[in-house]
Amino acid sequence: MKKFLDLGMQPLANKYLTRNDLKNKKKEKLYHLEVGFDKKTKLVSILNKVSSEKMFDNKYPYRSSMSKTMTKSFKILANKITKVYNPKIILEIGSNDGSLIKNFKKKKVICVEPCKNLAIITKNKGFKTYADYWNINLAKKVKSKHGKVDLIYSANTLSHISDLNSVFKSIAHVLSDDGILIIEDPSLLECLKKVAYDQFYNEHIYVFSLLSIKNILQKFNLEVFDTEILKTHGGSIRYFIKRTKNFNIKVNISVKKQLKNELRFRMDKFSTYITFKKKVEKSKIKLVNLFHKIKKDKKKIIGYGSTAKSVTVLNYCKIKSESLDYFVDTTPDKTKKYMPGTHIYVDQYKQDLLDGVDYIFLGAWNFKEEIFKKEKKYIKNGGKFITHIPTPQII
Ligand code: TYD
Repeated sequence: MKKFLDLGMQPLANKYLTRNDLKNKKKEKLYHLEVGFDKKTKLVSILNKVSSEKMFDNKYPYRSSMSKTMTKSFKILANKITKVYNPKIILEIGSNDGSLIKNFKKKKVICVEPCKNLAIITKNKGFKTYADYWNINLAKKVKSKHGKVDLIYSANTLSHISDLNSVFKSIAHVLSDDGILIIEDPSLLECLKKVAYDQFYNEHIYVFSLLSIKNILQKFNLEVFDTEILKTHGGSIRYFIKRTKNFNIKVNISVKKQLKNELRFRMDKFSTYITFKKKVEKSKIKLVNLFHKIKKDKKKIIGYGSTAKSVTVLNYCKIKSESLDYFVDTTPDKTKKYMPGTHIYVDQYKQDLLDGVDYIFLGAWNFKEEIFKKEKKYIKNGGKFITHIPTPQII
C-alpha cells in the first residue's frame, strides 16, 4: 500500500458523545487517517485499521431505514431478486435494522449483524438473526444449520471488514454452486470524480472499484457478471457475482463498460491518486474560506445529516461549533448527543430548527434531492445550502 492522502487525526465516525462524556472530559481516541493505493491489487484502503469490535458494538447508531432513498432502493432490489432469482434462502451480511429483508418472507431470510442493538430489531420481528461478525466460523455454522445458500446480499458492509480474504472465503463456503452474491458499496470512480474524500473514515476501510473487486474475487473462483450504477451513498456500484464455473449465466456488457470507464480515468495508476489528493487539499482551503466569509457576515450555519462523512470533513477542515451551531438529524441514537471530534451538538430533526438559519451545510449531500424536496419552505424563504461536493460552494 502506497500512501497518497493524509486526512489528519480523526475520531471513530459513529462514536457520539453524551453531555456527561463532555462534562467528564472523556478522552476521545483519535486515529491517523491515511489512505493508500496498492499497485498490484488496485485496492484503495485506509492505512491504520481499527478493530471491528471497537467500531461495531452494541451502541452502533447508524440506521439504514432513516432515508426514503435507501428504503426505496432496497424495495426495488428485493422485487428484482424475487423476480429474477427467486431464491429459497437469502443471507444478508450487515442487515442493520432490516430495511432490505423486511421485503421478504420471514422463513426465507438469514440476517447477520454484529451490532447487537441492531440485531435485536430484526430478531424481535421474527427474522433468523446471527448477532455476529461475518467469518468462516459463522459461515460453517450457517451451512450446517441451513445448508448452502442461493443468494447472499451485502450492502455497505464488506468495505468495512479488514480481512477480505476471510470475507470471500466464508462467502464461497456457503454459496451454492449456482448461487448469486450481490454486493454494493460506494464507487471509487465516483469518489474520485466528486472529490468525495469523506468516503474515507475509519469504518470505510476500502473504497472498491470493479478493478479491485475483480482481483479479489479471482482468488475464490468468483466473478462479476453484471454491474449496476446506483445513486445511493453518493454513487455506488452494485456487483452481481457468480461462481466462475457457472456457465449458465453470461457476463453482461455493463462489466466491460465499467472497467473501461475506470481505466479511462486511469484508476490503475498511482498518479491519479496524487491528483485526487491535490484536489482534496484545495477543497479544504475553499471550504474553510467559505465558512470564514459567512461567519464574518454574522450569518447562522447549521448542518443537516450528521453523517460519518461529515465527521471526516469537519475534523479534517477543523470546523467546530464556533462556525457551525448544530446539526439536525433523524437518527434516534445520534441526537441529543455531540459529534465525534468536533463536539458539535446534534439535535433531533424538527422543521422549526431551520427557522432563522441562513446556511445549511449538507452533511448528507448524498441525499440532496430528498432533503431539498423536504425543505421546500426553507428554500422558499431564501435559505441556502453549502456543499463541498464536487467543490465547496453555496447552492
Ligand atoms: P448516510 O449518508 O447514510 O451516512 P454515513 O456517511 O454515515 O454513511 O446518512 C445520512 C444521515 O442523514 C443519517 O444520519 C440520517 C440523516 N438524514 C436526516 O436526518 N434527514 C433526512 O431527510 C435524510 C435523508 C437523512
